[in-house]
Amino acid sequence: MTYTLFFFFLFLQSLDLSAMAATLGPKFYSESCPQAEFIVKDVMKKAMKREPRSIASVMRLQFHDCFVNGCDASLLLDDTPNMLGEKLALSNINSLRSYEVVDEVKEALERECPGVVSCADLLIMAARDAVVLSGGPNWEVKLGRLDSLTASQEDSNQIMPSPRSNATYLIDLFSRFNLSVQDLVALSGSHSIGKGRCFSIVFRLYNQSGSGKPDPTIEPKFREKLDKLCPLGGEGNVTGDLDATPEIFDNQYFKDLVNGRGFLNSDQTLFTCPITREYVREFSVSQEKFFKAFVEGMIKMGDLQSGRPGVIRRDCRVANSHRPRIEVLFETSNRKDK
Ligand code: HEM
Ligand SMILES: *[C@@H]1O[C@H](CO)[C@@H](O)[C@H](O)[C@H]1NC(C)=O
Ligand SMILES: *[C@@H]1O[C@H](CO)[C@@H](O)[C@H](O)[C@H]1NC(C)=O
Ligand SMILES: *[C@@H]1O[C@H](CO)[C@@H](O)[C@H](O)[C@H]1NC(C)=O
Ligand SMILES: *[C@@H]1O[C@H](CO)[C@@H](O)[C@H](O)[C@H]1NC(C)=O
Repeated sequence: MTYTLFFFFLFLQSLDLSAMAATLGPKFYSESCPQAEFIVKDVMKKAMKREPRSIASVMRLQFHDCFVNGCDASLLLDDTPNMLGEKLALSNINSLRSYEVVDEVKEALERECPGVVSCADLLIMAARDAVVLSGGPNWEVKLGRLDSLTASQEDSNQIMPSPRSNATYLIDLFSRFNLSVQDLVALSGSHSIGKGRCFSIVFRLYNQSGSGKPDPTIEPKFREKLDKLCPLGGEGNVTGDLDATPEIFDNQYFKDLVNGRGFLNSDQTLFTCPITREYVREFSVSQEKFFKAFVEGMIKMGDLQSGRPGVIRRDCRVANSHRPRIEVLFETSNRKDK
């Protein structure tokens, strides 16, 4: 009897936790935490002052979170003895950074509105703020996401694209998330801010597609510069700018691609490939069109959900919040047994 009761409550609990019905909307915290967006932006501003690159690094987290089982902050979970998280996945290890800025934002939110704002929503707000603070477009974000109970390194390894990817591969990958060719090109424009490592480009400088030769689409003067930055056998962690104006969110990235000055292979391939080339050209001449398409893409990417159960985490690194409520049910059942 008590067991039946327990499972009934567990069932209720799982309904309560279900992300299936999570309807996202712009006013989600207007009653429960009206200052949420202000708090996030304030911490992002401080982070930018401390280290300009950090806001680009935080913005990137939205992509790496949303593509792996939806925007559920699974990315932010630290490894545990029972779970290999996503932080050490192939595309993330030694590459994703500024998790401490996310912690700082979360601490500020918890001080003001404990247990209310999800880490998944935090990433979405922070990504938007990074774009705005760098001079890019502003937009209203949809909120109401829940945080996952788990993470999957394997899924991240399977899904996240390599810097070696070609355009056809990327078109196919993005289409699996219902993201169009225009979305792919516009979202790649996020590389208008931030940096990448020599590790991510040495293959295209010295051995493109195993040819023993450099990628022929790199403009010669630019290749000279990259060769100096990233000599063969050099330190893989040295970083270079992803476009010529790495702290300003603008359409310089697309101008660079048109001129053979893309940093990553996955960037330059968007101009080499005829299917994506016209979008690159269009965005290189119209920043307005780029901004509009970028916002559309970010909103679509932010809509990705797994439909799995979720909670509001108190600490973005730890999946802890669902336990206390279930423990209470255990105690109730035990007491009745006695
Ligand atoms: C289209 C497929 C994409 C590929 C293959 C890709 C790959 C990469 C790589 C290899 C780096 C440099 C990492 C390193 O060298 O350590 C990077 C940096 C970055 N990516 Fe992407 N990316 C893609 C799409 C996106 C999207 C959709 C966003 C966000 C909306 C994004 C945001 C960023 C940002 C902001 C940085 C700079 C981060 C920093 O400075 O710390 N990327 N990306
Ligand atoms: C693109 O990359 C995929 C996967 O790595 C590969 O199978 C395909 O042959 C490449 N396509 C072109 C046109 O290079
Ligand atoms: C893509 O759209 C289809 C049709 O609307 C939908 O069934 C599917 O779940 C979507 N896929 C993703 C990853 O959102
Ligand atoms: C270039 O790549 C090919 C294929 O991956 C490999 O067999 C070859 O040893 C590489 N050459 C150099 C110089 O690294
Ligand atoms: C970069 O630095 C990390 C940590 O400091 C190190 O583990 C890694 O091997 C380095 N990677 C490369 C490509 O040199």
